[in-house]
Amino acid sequence: MRRPIVVGNWKMNMLISTSNKWVEEFIKTSKLVGSFDLVIAPPFTSLSAVRKSAEGTKIQLAGQNMASELEGAQTGEVSAIMLRDAGCEYVILGHSERRQHYSESDEIINRKILLACENQLNIIFCIGETIEDRNKGQANKVLEGQLLGGLDGLIEDQLNSVCIAYEPIWAIGTGHTANPNQVQDVHSFIRNWCKKSFGKNIAEASRILYGGSVDSQNSPSLMSQPDVDGLLVGGASLRSKSFYDIIKSSFED
Ligand code: PGA
Repeated sequence: MRRPIVVGNWKMNMLISTSNKWVEEFIKTSKLVGSFDLVIAPPFTSLSAVRKSAEGTKIQLAGQNMASELEGAQTGEVSAIMLRDAGCEYVILGHSERRQHYSESDEIINRKILLACENQLNIIFCIGETIEDRNKGQANKVLEGQLLGGLDGLIEDQLNSVCIAYEPIWAIGTGHTANPNQVQDVHSFIRNWCKKSFGKNIAEASRILYGGSVDSQNSPSLMSQPDVDGLLVGGASLRSKSFYDIIKSSFED
């Protein structure tokens, strides 16, 4: 059985004070009784604050990005070792905002994924097509290219620490969630691709997340799809209440 996972990606939002307040409110109001993984990706500057205020809870931490080198003369970058040191167990890699605004190629993302594996970080590896790709009937081809590039050279052990997050670019921050059937089609395509490329065991164990305008209204029908194992939530994770509403409606027993 694949263990469900919900990830809150705060992006470039939240100061240290608001991060602490978020955790405080969240702990106060949430029951968190189900068996699922709960991961928050605060900005780097809030990582240690969240680590401290979430101590003893089931909240795990993720970095939102990571350098493609381990150390040295890389002004402004944060390495895999530093993320581990700050208490992260996960890192988000290949997010479309990194691909689009910071020109991250499949090769760079692949390098980062390999480094994250070597440093015992679990990876939330994002892929997604544009609306133009979809309208041209090219969505699966684009996704396959991103999977091939990003996961190149990974061996079985390393693949076990990778979750794949399908995030159609046209659904991110737009309020237009992909419909559950569309999402299931793509997730099943991804799982079949994994089966073809890495074998049945890996394919069946791989967690595939959906992201893009997830909220508490649409999350139950997304999570009820057989190949949807989790959610990557941006905007709706910024308020502890709306994030908990998603958890309550889709993850708790
Ligand atoms: P959104 O962002 O939920 O605000 O659409 C999702 C993401 O970019 O991970």
